[in-house]
Amino acid sequence: MWNQLKEASDFIADRIEKQPEIGIVLGTGLGGLADKVKADHVIEYSEIPHFPQSTVEGHDGKLIFGEINGKRVVLMKGRFHYYEGYSMQQVVFPIRVMHLLGASNLIVSNASGGVNPEFEVGDIMLIQDQINLQPDNPLRGPNLDQLGPRFPDMSEPYDLRLLALAEEVAIQKGIKVHKGVYASVSGPNFETPAEYGYISRIGADAVGMSTAPEVMAARHMGMRCFGVSVITDLGVEGKIEVVTHEEVQKVAQKAEELVSDVVLELIGKWE
Ligand code: HPA
Repeated sequence: MWNQLKEASDFIADRIEKQPEIGIVLGTGLGGLADKVKADHVIEYSEIPHFPQSTVEGHDGKLIFGEINGKRVVLMKGRFHYYEGYSMQQVVFPIRVMHLLGASNLIVSNASGGVNPEFEVGDIMLIQDQINLQPDNPLRGPNLDQLGPRFPDMSEPYDLRLLALAEEVAIQKGIKVHKGVYASVSGPNFETPAEYGYISRIGADAVGMSTAPEVMAARHMGMRCFGVSVITDLGVEGKIEVVTHEEVQKVAQKAEELVSDVVLELIGKWE
């Protein structure tokens, strides 16, 4: 695995001039950021040795290198989910490559179902902590000592200073945000009412099918993480409706401008 990571990152390093500082996974809510970047290099996943390939035809799979608000960034357009059939090692491969290229910070976004009764569809939740309910762990197996320790600390998965900064930005802009705990499940089915109830009772505010593995891999390498969820549906008793992918996409698109607005400014203020 180390050799594969090294080959992939060496391949990319030969093609870019400047190291990225921040890696950004363009999940739901952040897609628009791709239009905001002053891009100087675009590399398709299919060109990169050992890089996982997108399964869905027509789905983007590329790394965009450039600058946003004065910071060097690498955007990951097209992410990998466990439910698609990728191994956890594949799911986090791009995060590890971004780190090997120099990124010491990670921004991730996702769509999620709100299980906190105070949440409404379309709300934005800044992630303050996570519960990993995925059936596998990207750090399982021989430890890659070059990347981080065997037993990584998880006492602050999401950087509290960045979280406070993002909250400040949102308040200044008059954008309502919650802070909460993200539970990560494998999917691909949405939850049953009993499962939503369970997820709420164990201490989560929202549930989705990504992010936690990426953040575990990032923390293993000591990256500072910031995450944001768009609440696209509710798993709250009495408010549970049929959830479709289309509805999730529709709600997410509406929230996208606000999420991007906060993250753009956060990047500018990032130290
Ligand atoms: N559950 C899991 N993943 C999701 C949901 C949900 O309700 N909404 C969007 N992604």
